[in-house]
Amino acid sequence: MSATTTGGSGPGRTTSAPGAREQRSPLAAAVRGRLHAVVPRHWSVLFGQVAVGSFVVLVLSGLYLELFFDPSMATTVYDGPYENLRGVGVSHAYDSALAISFEVRGGLFVRQLHNWAASLFVAALLAGLVVAFFSGAFRRPRRSIWVVGVLLLFVGVLTAFTGVLLPDDLLSGTSLRMISGYLLSIPVAGTWLHWMLFGSEFPGTEVIPRLHVAHLVLAVVIGALFAVRAVLHARHGHPQYPGSGRSEGDVVGVRVLPGYAARSAAQFTAMVGVLAAMAAAFQVNPIWAYGPANPAHVSGGSTSPWYFGWVDGAVRLWPAWEIRLGEYTVPPWFWPSMVFLPLSFVALALYPVLESRFTRDTAHHHLLQRPRDVPARTSLGVLVAAFYGCLQLAAATDVLAFTFHLSTDAVFWAGRVAVFVVPALAYAVTYRVCLGLQMADRAVLEHGIETGLVRRLPHGGYVEVHHPLAGFDEHGRPVRPAYRGAPVPKRMNQLVAAGPPAD
Ligand code: HEM
Repeated sequence: MSATTTGGSGPGRTTSAPGAREQRSPLAAAVRGRLHAVVPRHWSVLFGQVAVGSFVVLVLSGLYLELFFDPSMATTVYDGPYENLRGVGVSHAYDSALAISFEVRGGLFVRQLHNWAASLFVAALLAGLVVAFFSGAFRRPRRSIWVVGVLLLFVGVLTAFTGVLLPDDLLSGTSLRMISGYLLSIPVAGTWLHWMLFGSEFPGTEVIPRLHVAHLVLAVVIGALFAVRAVLHARHGHPQYPGSGRSEGDVVGVRVLPGYAARSAAQFTAMVGVLAAMAAAFQVNPIWAYGPANPAHVSGGSTSPWYFGWVDGAVRLWPAWEIRLGEYTVPPWFWPSMVFLPLSFVALALYPVLESRFTRDTAHHHLLQRPRDVPARTSLGVLVAAFYGCLQLAAATDVLAFTFHLSTDAVFWAGRVAVFVVPALAYAVTYRVCLGLQMADRAVLEHGIETGLVRRLPHGGYVEVHHPLAGFDEHGRPVRPAYRGAPVPKRMNQLVAAGPPAD
């Protein structure tokens, strides 16, 4: 096990001991450690890379937008090139966002680039957490990396949400109406918090300038969290997939410098190309079509951005229970918006601690797991995904009822039943599938691999030839038996790569 850990100070680290100067500066040591770290050559590493790359695109495109965007809510009369809005009273924020779209050179392209990059950023962070969850990468000693990942997701969705509120269009105004209601639902502190954000009664005079500052501050926080995550990765290294680095000479990954850095640069360029093509070809957030924010208007089909759809869905499905606490009335939407939302992130951040308490597994793990080998966790993950998937779908109750000519009540009740039934079914099915896959693995271990070669027996019957599974030599290196010219089946590759449980 000479090279199973990659980078960091764990066993197997091949870099030299830190010198006296490094000991004085932990940051320098961390940077040096990071540059010498080894990153696995696995597709799942791409998610972290895409998140950092799209953040770079966000910062660059955001700085360009900043040159022309005016966050003021003072009103003016629109007299730009978009005929349909000429003569309409709008805020300076909306006016400048329209100017970016129609008058600034490349403005619409950069707005769309910024918006698509924000979606990609959140999606990449989410995908990274999903992979870490199902492969057990969050276990000790990398719990802190998991917590930083959850924080990044939380701050990332907040930043993206504050961004879409900035142009002060009708969709932004509808979201702000919801936010105002959520804040006011908080007993005692609600009114204060509302005034802190809006500066007055809804629709407020200060909300867009304050959200603009929050947007920039949150972007800086994201940068700081990425720096913390890089330091933690340098300290603990990347975990490995089972089978890689079992013996001397096995390739477990590439060093950050120069191999990984060169590859990342190429991948970043490709990603920017794809984002640019999307920004050029696919319209997103057409604020001129929605019109300016107006407290008396709301469009049918309005909903939150996709990363907050589940909160919208929870608000819709939550029963209309109104609680009176002395002088205060707690409206029903307080629970899904102000309790369920933060609790979801707290539970996600605490998951590694809860799992280790529950399984009493406090050991350090540098090898990842296959989801089928941990059926309880895998099924729990699918249960949670099904639960939030149902809530996400519930954010479209009105659209579903309208499109399929159903009664809105029926759609609501179907959603309320589905959030309990679908996750339970998903858990049961996933658990069975994991056990089935384990049994299939065991069958291969016992009977060998199906070769696809069929042999005719002397009495006329047919049997399929099973080849014994590869063994392991004295170094733990898999030994592939000679195969008489037949190609090694993919399945066998996987099993050989997985090797015997070593973690
Ligand atoms: C230094 C970094 C950033 C700066 C200077 C910046 C600046 C801006 C500005 C000025 C706008 C309003 C422009 C407009 O709507 O026309 C905006 C919108 C937006 N921002 Fe940022 N931003 C930054 C980082 C981010 C990050 C990290 C995210 C996502 C996580 C993000 C997501 C958004 C979104 C989704 C919009 C709405 C775009 C649209 O109008 O369609 N921004 N940003």
